[in-house]
Amino acid sequence: MTSHRPMAFVTRLLPEPGPSLLGEVFDLQGNLEDRPIMPWEILAGVPGASAIISTLADRIDAAVLAAAGAQLRVVSNFAVGFDNIDVAAATERGVLVTTTPDVLTEATAELTWALILAAARRVLEGDALVRSGKFTGWSPSLLLGKELTGGILGIAGMGRIGSAVARRAAGFGMRVLYTRRSGPLPPEAIPAGAQWDFATDLHGLLVSSDVLSLHVPLRPDTRHLIGAQELAAMKPDAILINAARGPVVDEAALLASLRRGHLFAAGLDVYENEPQIAPGLEGLPNVVLLPHVGSATVATRRKMAELTARNAIGGVCGLPTVHAVNRPPS
Ligand code: DGY
Repeated sequence: MTSHRPMAFVTRLLPEPGPSLLGEVFDLQGNLEDRPIMPWEILAGVPGASAIISTLADRIDAAVLAAAGAQLRVVSNFAVGFDNIDVAAATERGVLVTTTPDVLTEATAELTWALILAAARRVLEGDALVRSGKFTGWSPSLLLGKELTGGILGIAGMGRIGSAVARRAAGFGMRVLYTRRSGPLPPEAIPAGAQWDFATDLHGLLVSSDVLSLHVPLRPDTRHLIGAQELAAMKPDAILINAARGPVVDEAALLASLRRGHLFAAGLDVYENEPQIAPGLEGLPNVVLLPHVGSATVATRRKMAELTARNAIGGVCGLPTVHAVNRPPS
């Protein structure tokens, strides 16, 4: 029997309440398991879809959009980043692209601080030492870390997540210096009493930061924002944190810099060629490597799934509340 409901192609099983909400409106097809989907499976499965529900790991390019057909209304991404989608091609085809802003801001900021603290206080080295049975007792010189109090936290990209990371800086006695594409924040966006200063250029941020945390989206102009030259401009004992998108950092240049002993440590949640990492990074004791888990809390993933479903439903039903990043001509 043919279904009269619109079809939604799902690239991967989302947490509840995503599937239940989607199932109220759509005939759900695609990969309803928690396993990565192959690009050919997407191409083969999208024809006839009114909505594509994608994750950040799925490339939704012009070919996928064309394969879906003229009835496609929305690509609803289970992420706040949308560099995996060809937004220009979607706009041209009259397809909305939606994301999940706000709901993952605090979880991602918390994870960023986990990276900062783990890198500064050598948490993984300490853990490994104890587990190895080689901890022989307290020592005045064991695993000396980098003190955060009194330092400068540099934030490249003072959007929602950058600001949430900055808000937590006061708790660690750090001043904040930031760059922002659209200029300094309006005074009302800065918490009362907080010391947040605007850096007019990236160089100013690089040379002053004791910890530099990246929160820019991946765009052509932010690809390799941090390369060999930028790393060389950083303080030799600074810490670099990337919980944004891997290609924002030239990973080979970072590896070379760390090998030279330039930088105290790095904390990474994302990689240039995810899930691969630059060979050699894994051998460095002063790098914290996480598997892209910035938004991975039970509560946040539920909220993301709900928003992803509501965006898809709203996009197909023409509701005005969807979190769209484009405005296709109607
Ligand atoms: C996003 O939403 O872009 C995050 O990277 C997901 O964890």
